[in-house]
Amino acid sequence: MAEADEFLESIWQSMTDAATLPGHGLSLMNVATIGRNGGPRARSVILRDFARSPERLCFATHALSEKVAEIRANSAVAATCYDRKRSLQLRFEGTATIIADDAERWRAWQRLAPHSQQQYVSLATPGAPLTTHEPLEDDASTAFQRFAWISLELRSLEWLALSTAPHTRWQFELLSSGWNGQRVIP
Ligand SMILES: Cc1cc2nc3c(=O)[nH]c(=O)nc-3n(C[C@H](O)[C@H](O)[C@H](O)COP(=O)(O)O)c2cc1C
Repeated sequence: MAEADEFLESIWQSMTDAATLPGHGLSLMNVATIGRNGGPRARSVILRDFARSPERLCFATHALSEKVAEIRANSAVAATCYDRKRSLQLRFEGTATIIADDAERWRAWQRLAPHSQQQYVSLATPGAPLTTHEPLEDDASTAFQRFAWISLELRSLEWLALSTAPHTRWQFELLSSGWNGQRVIP
């Protein structure tokens, strides 16, 4: 296997580990969308799944959150992860999809811990002004309806490790023939 292919396989393994091993250094992603005013908006989300063929990163969010409306309007999304222990940054670009298939949504929902499912019981809209001191209304029976499962299908990625001297930087791009990668100047 060529060096770039081997390296890419090790990246996919890292993303599988990040999505499955609690506390993994790469499990918190910074996801950037195009805001509805045309400017960039970024926020942290937990990487919940990594799948192959095509390679995609998945995260959970509230269906009424701003990012869902932004992805509906413009599916171009970038993401970064940083593993502090390994001084390692991964950057991703691709196309996000709000998964509509209920069976797939349900499988993802069932993998959430109870405290994560709890984030969806409120009937209030995230980001709306908090105008009352009364407790907000909850409905656990409809929580699943407010759960959105987002898949970011990758078109390019970049690996940057600052733990080596010199630093190591690789770029990969998905072409019609498959993933193509090269080492670049850090
Ligand atoms: C450590 C951490 C993890 C988070 N994980 C998620 C997540 O998995 N999904 C999510 O929707 N928001 C998550 N958030 C909250 C988001 O960063 C953001 O504040 C929220 O989703 C609203 O973003 P939006 O207005 O751009 O939609 C997390 C925040 C922190 C600090």
